[in-house]
Amino acid sequence: MDELEFVRLSSDDSRDSDFDCGNDDLNEFFFVDSKANFRELLAVTYAWNLHGKTIAFFSVSNDAITSQNVENFNRFRRILPWGKRYKTMPAVKIGRFAVHKNFSKHGYGSKIMDFIKIWFVTRNKTGCRFIVVDALKEAQRFYEKNGFSFLSSDGENDSTRLMYFDLKTVKPDS
Ligand SMILES: CC(C)(COP(=O)(O)OP(=O)(O)OC[C@H]1O[C@@H](n2cnc3c(N)ncnc32)[C@H](O)[C@@H]1OP(=O)(O)O)[C@@H](O)C(=O)NCCC(=O)NCCS
Repeated sequence: MDELEFVRLSSDDSRDSDFDCGNDDLNEFFFVDSKANFRELLAVTYAWNLHGKTIAFFSVSNDAITSQNVENFNRFRRILPWGKRYKTMPAVKIGRFAVHKNFSKHGYGSKIMDFIKIWFVTRNKTGCRFIVVDALKEAQRFYEKNGFSFLSSDGENDSTRLMYFDLKTVKPDS
């Protein structure tokens, strides 16, 4: 990751026109929708550049895990100590995540996921216990390999399924 540059994208900066993750919706988000989401304070998008070229991006927003997301919420809440089993538990949502198709399956996605986990537990400004993601079917194996679990056993045939990662399992940098 040393040679990679981490860039926070805004609504008026340019995007690397060569970026292509092989998924049209995600490409469209990178080039167009991420700008409107930034303007409306709905999501912030970050890029990883290698020698000036974007090899991956992700977008994040505030979110929460509630009884509506989880199959057996009372059992799920036992992850927290007694007295802290709130009805709403703070989370960050990875709205979009994609690696350039020429760089996929080289470990970059997992390295970036490790970065996101550390990033959210180090000097955090707000409480944030979980990462959640509406994982595309084809990416669910990737998330499982990176420690994510399904919030419900439903939807096995759906195109996306909500998955979570418990940030309490990560050691902060400081
Ligand atoms: C899914 C994605 C982000 C993974 O990034 P990546 O850099 O390719 O992932 P890694 O190289 O770190 O892979 C980690 C592990 O997951 C596996 N993996 C990655 N993508 C996979 C896929 N599509 N299907 C099955 N396994 C996959 C890899 O084989 C690897 O396993 P290994 O360590 O046993 O070899 C990337 O492939 C991508 O951008 N895909 C297109 C867009 C997309 O689906 N985004 C997710 C939106 S929810």
